Amino acid sequence: MKTNNAKLNQQKILIAPSILSADFAYMGEAVIAMEKAGADWIHCDVMDGQFVPNITFGFKLVEDIRKLTRLPLDVHLMIVEPERYVDRFIGSGADIVTIHYEAANDPKTSLQQIRKRGVKAGISINPDTPVSVLNDLYEYCDLVLLMSVFPGFGGQSFIKESLERLKSLVYHAKHANPNILIEIDGGVTLENASLIKQAGVEILVAGNTIFSSPNYKKAIELLRKG
Ligand code: DX5
Ligand code: ZN
Repeated sequence: MKTNNAKLNQQKILIAPSILSADFAYMGEAVIAMEKAGADWIHCDVMDGQFVPNITFGFKLVEDIRKLTRLPLDVHLMIVEPERYVDRFIGSGADIVTIHYEAANDPKTSLQQIRKRGVKAGISINPDTPVSVLNDLYEYCDLVLLMSVFPGFGGQSFIKESLERLKSLVYHAKHANPNILIEIDGGVTLENASLIKQAGVEILVAGNTIFSSPNYKKAIELLRKG
């Protein structure tokens, strides 16, 4: 008899390359290369230098990428008071807008604000935020993004406790909202992808693993199937 885990392993895993690891001077080429290599989503890391100690890009880049690809744009907002800007990112062509629980004044209202505009609403938590803070929010979101590194930079190591957190998240989130999608972000490698997938994740974000590979297509295939 097949276990639930076996069933989960059979479902298609989506790969969302994080363009934070691209050469920003060649961003267009990077996005096109990711699409050609079989990426499912393009993960866009927006950082404000306040919520995280790094600054990346804003609406303009999302808007320009939108013209280059048909892939869903998965916009991860690592910014304080994201409610101020969600509408602008949606207007720029985001398909999924994920806010941080720790950064939002009123996460529930922000999630509703995103959904009202017809795009997927996501919520993310940092490695030191208890999974239980999401208990009352699952019904208002389409996706939960679990951070497996402290946000701010690509190329960090996967925090090993994230695996247990992921299992607990999958259990609680799917019970509360069976349609919710579970995504993990930070330190995903060819070595740990299989264990992470067994924990029930549906979307793997990967920056360094894909962009440092000599063969993007192979890296994406290995992450998805390996
Ligand atoms: C971290 C970002 C991640 C990061 C992932 O703050 O949210 O999306 O770019 O990069 P890797 O896969 O290299 O850890
Ligand atoms: Zn991210």
